[in-house]
Amino acid sequence: MVSSILFVCLGNICRSPLAHGIAENLSKKYSLDLLIDSAGTSSHHIGEPPCANSIKVAKNHSIDISKQKARQVRAEDFKNFDLVVALDSSNFNNLKNMGCKNLVKLGDFGFDGADVPDPYFFDGFNGFEEVFKMIYDCVEKVVTPRRLELR
Ligand code: 4NP
Repeated sequence: MVSSILFVCLGNICRSPLAHGIAENLSKKYSLDLLIDSAGTSSHHIGEPPCANSIKVAKNHSIDISKQKARQVRAEDFKNFDLVVALDSSNFNNLKNMGCKNLVKLGDFGFDGADVPDPYFFDGFNGFEEVFKMIYDCVEKVVTPRRLELR
């Protein structure tokens, strides 16, 4: 049974913090008692809070991600978490090369394996709502079977 999930993107400041916040929110809503965390494959933003637009779009949906702090993924994570979820294929391949086996791609949960676009490269707030919705729909599909397993 899956009881812990780690979401991984590149910087751990835009996309995976949203997945992290959404999953925690759904876990609480469905009383799932899941351990949720997020990390980045890169070391560039260690210790930083999520980017302002990710905090804003989450807040628009009553989810507070402002207290998260970016960290880099490490090999122990693959033992400590039941499931590792990559936000795009580049993250997926990097994690696979690090030896991660309990690995899936978020876009495989309802989006035909599509990469979650990186809003770090967006112009302003435009596009963050779309990214939020895509992440929300996929994360719900990752989390909902856990709800059934626990019944
Ligand atoms: P994220 O976005 O992977 O969704 O957190 C990025 C954040 C920072 C960088 C790239 C992507 N960066 O190149 O610093």
